[in-house]
Amino acid sequence: MIEVRGLRMRYGSVDVLKGVDFEARRGEVLALLGPNGAGKTTTIEILEGFRMRSAGEVRVLGVDPAQGDERWRARLGVVLQSWRDHGKWKVRELLDNLGRYYAPYSTPDRKRPWAVDDLIETVGLGGQAGKKISSLSGGQRRRMDVAIGIVGRPELLFLDEPTAGFDPQARREFHDLVHRLSDLEDTTILLTTHDLDEAEKLADRILILAGGAIIADGSADALSYRMSTNSEVKWRRDGQRFVHSAPEATRFVRELFEQYGEGVSDLEVRRASLEDAYMALVQQFESGQGGTAAREFKEVKR
Ligand SMILES: Nc1ncnc2c1ncn2[C@@H]1O[C@H](COP(=O)(O)OP(=O)(O)O)[C@@H](O)[C@H]1O
Ligand SMILES: [Mg+2]
Repeated sequence: MIEVRGLRMRYGSVDVLKGVDFEARRGEVLALLGPNGAGKTTTIEILEGFRMRSAGEVRVLGVDPAQGDERWRARLGVVLQSWRDHGKWKVRELLDNLGRYYAPYSTPDRKRPWAVDDLIETVGLGGQAGKKISSLSGGQRRRMDVAIGIVGRPELLFLDEPTAGFDPQARREFHDLVHRLSDLEDTTILLTTHDLDEAEKLADRILILAGGAIIADGSADALSYRMSTNSEVKWRRDGQRFVHSAPEATRFVRELFEQYGEGVSDLEVRRASLEDAYMALVQQFESGQGGTAAREFKEVKR
């Protein structure tokens, strides 16, 4: 669905992307992570055909985005980082109108567009169908963005910080929507987020962009496992709380029980999270050892 080789992007005299490589297979959900200014939006906009790259090979649905035609574009869904204003339109009206554009691109196995009322329910705007977009709350506007992005039932969907500003409930509902798109529609999804917990919940594969290149590419599990420095073990003994940071938690716990047996209670073992792994990787990278970290990680890439 996506193939990127040696992608470079220069703004003026600044190289933002210095050789980005990755691919996405059908049905995968990929999360692109990285510090602010790493070039995530730039990368996504190049894949969408909105921005011309400086160099490198890019194929999206088999086509170079710089040469993508309307038929190609109709197979993509795009949710930009910043909101495009359609304030005067009503929710149902706008989706109905935008949907019409996709009708000529309907195929036997992918009927386009998405039936408008069904779509409105799917993104959770059932109560707002007749309302003007300018009257929606921030979270509802973002759902509207998502509805606009998927009205053509895309095979490949780009979501740039889709949940920024969501409350926990809106976030949970959005996660359900992504799972539904991926499971029922077989949509391939590339999303960016700053929420590592979200990345872990949604993504089959995590890509970390830093210093102009992908420094890690693998499942959240593989990433945490590889980068996990230590697990945290907590327990209680003789009325006191203990905390220990152990590189091999299983062995540590076995020894703990051998030594204190029944005396140990309230045992908790917390494996390093994706967040720990992410922080460790980006820190290693910023201290100039990113190359090593990336090489180590790529050995276990699935
Ligand atoms: N049109 C542009 N002209 C010049 N510099 C840009 C432009 N767009 C983005 N940049 C710069 O490129 C870098 C990457 O930006 P961006 O792709 O938005 O990063 P991210 O989405 O990861 O935060 C930033 O330093 C940003 O200031
Ligand atoms: Mg961005």
